[in-house]
Amino acid sequence: MSISIEKNSGVAFLPFPEMDGILKDELKERFSFSMENAVSYGELLYIPDYNAKNSDGTFKVPYFCRSAMLEPFILKFDSIGEAAVELKKIQRSWASCSSTCFRRSALIQEKLPYINFKPKTFPVKLPASEIGLFCLLDKNMMIASAKTSSPLPAGKISFIEDHENPPSRAYLKIQESLSVADSIFGCGLPSDSSRCFEAGACPGGWTYVLVNLGAKVFAVDRSELVPSLMKNPLVEFLAHDAFTLKPESLGEFDWVFSDVICYPERLLEWIKMWLESGKTKKMICTIKMQGKTDWNLISKFEEIPDSKVVHLNYNKHELTFIHCQKD
Ligand SMILES: C[S@@+](CC[C@H](N)C(=O)[O-])C[C@H]1O[C@@H](n2cnc3c(N)ncnc32)[C@H](O)[C@@H]1O
Repeated sequence: MSISIEKNSGVAFLPFPEMDGILKDELKERFSFSMENAVSYGELLYIPDYNAKNSDGTFKVPYFCRSAMLEPFILKFDSIGEAAVELKKIQRSWASCSSTCFRRSALIQEKLPYINFKPKTFPVKLPASEIGLFCLLDKNMMIASAKTSSPLPAGKISFIEDHENPPSRAYLKIQESLSVADSIFGCGLPSDSSRCFEAGACPGGWTYVLVNLGAKVFAVDRSELVPSLMKNPLVEFLAHDAFTLKPESLGEFDWVFSDVICYPERLLEWIKMWLESGKTKKMICTIKMQGKTDWNLISKFEEIPDSKVVHLNYNKHELTFIHCQKD
């Protein structure tokens, strides 16, 4: 067999772990796309007739997909070396999402230019250059695409974990959302000159990250934060319903955050209240799904100018709203 590359139609989607069911629902319900021609290669869902497009002609990429192969092709090869040479000819950086022939896939990856897959130390700048994705179908064939929907290797990022100091694992979620916000909007991170408002802050994972960046945090919850944060001079705590506090009475904040478990309708109203008040230009809020996902409602978050809805590696059955206006 000699080496061959054949361009394929459609798009292949790699779901976030354990999100394959909701990814399919999203394709069907949000994009009204029938799945009858879909083929699964392990986790990867390849849809040869996928044609859901945005008004600018780019493919619509579901929230629950961590990376998509936007220009898929089939590469047939005899040896590991041949496969790596062909991929390198197209582009420098590649990551694998193979769910078969793992050893062979790892050997191809080793022959490609180095990619750092290790957990990161926060704060981190997310990569800006293109990274391709390949998935072995058998020992002599792969589906691959140089153009993908994520600058992260196979759409994945993880942070070095601190099991001792943060009061909850939610610190990982704000580390990722701040990194993504900076990567999308170039808004930087909170710093020692920042004033932050945090709704639903207990036990304090998000506050912990913010004060470690040097920011002052006005934290509101019905329950207190862990004692170390309650006595931190950068933290002001108020036991209150965060949604009944009016921006006009609280003043200006560089960043407003919410990780409150509430109906998305209520969160949307609250976000609009803050943005209409003009008291903040940057918001990061978790949209917690309640029961069946209302895609129409989710689209209302994204319709807010300068906003993006994403699913993070550290999100579970929830999405993250990021808003960032230029100063
Ligand atoms: C998922 S936890 C937040 C975890 C926190 N972000 C962390 O990093 O540790 C949600 C919090 O929202 C609080 N909460 C729920 N409704 C609230 C409201 N209306 N006002 C203020 N806090 C609220 C709950 O008490 C709970 O502590």
